[in-house]
Amino acid sequence: MAENSDLIIPRHIAIIMDGNGRWAKKRTLPRTMGHKKGAKVFTEIARNCKELGVEYLTVYAFSTENWKRPQKEVDEIMNLLRNYLLDIKENVKEEGKINFIGDITPLNNDLKSLILECEEKTSKFTDFTVNIALNYGGRDELVHAVKKIGEKIKEGEISPEDINEKTISNYIYTSGMPDPDLLIRPGGEKRISNFLLWQNAYAEMVFTDVLWPDFDKKCLLDAVKIYSERNRRYGGI
Ligand code: FPP
Repeated sequence: MAENSDLIIPRHIAIIMDGNGRWAKKRTLPRTMGHKKGAKVFTEIARNCKELGVEYLTVYAFSTENWKRPQKEVDEIMNLLRNYLLDIKENVKEEGKINFIGDITPLNNDLKSLILECEEKTSKFTDFTVNIALNYGGRDELVHAVKKIGEKIKEGEISPEDINEKTISNYIYTSGMPDPDLLIRPGGEKRISNFLLWQNAYAEMVFTDVLWPDFDKKCLLDAVKIYSERNRRYGGI
C-alpha cells in the first residue's frame, strides 16, 4: 500500500472502544444503538488492521466493572458478541484467530460454548489474532495470575526466588503474545481504565476525541502515523 509506505506498523494494537453511549445520545438513539454501530466498526477496524500487517489486535468489549450497567445494555453487548461469533461459526473465512481474554466463567453456557467453538475453529489462523477482552479487568487478571503461580509454588513446580517478569507474563491471559505497541483510546477520555495493566507498560498511547462508532480507517492510519513518529526508548536514552 503506497499510502502506508512511511508508516511503522505496530505488531500489536490495543483499543478501548469508548464513546458508544455518547454517539447514540447525540442522535437521540438508545445507548444500545451506539454499541451496535460500535460492533460493526470493530469488524471493519479488525479487517483494516489485518490488511496493514498488524499481527495482534486486542479490544476492550466488556470490563469487570461493566456489569454495573442496566441489564438491557449488558444483554445487548452480549447479544452483539453472540451474533459476531455465530457469524464466524457459520462462515470461517475471516482468517483471523479469535481469542477471548478475561474471566468467562460467569457467562451464559451458550455464549461460553460459542466462544470455545470459535476459538477452536479459528486456531489455525496464525497471521492475525483478535483478542476480545470480555469480563476483563487488568487487576483481576493479575489476581488470577498470582493465584495460579501460588498453586505452582504449592505443588513445588516453581520456587519463589525463580519468579521474574517472564513468569508473570506466562500466567496472564496474553501469555505467548507480544505486548501492545500502540494503545488507542477514542471517546475523549485519557486513562487506561484497568485495561492490560501489565502489558501496556511500554505501549505508546494515542487518545482521540472521535467517538468509537465514528472511528474509521483514516482514524486508524492517523494513530499509526502518530505512533510511527514516536521515539520509543524503553527507559533508555
Ligand atoms: C464503551 O462505550 C463501550 C463498551 C463498554 C462496550 C463496547 C462493546 C462493543 C463495541 C460491542 C462489542 C462487540 C463485539 C463484536 C466486539 P460507553 O458505552 O462507555 O460510551 P460512553 O462513554 O459514551 O457512555
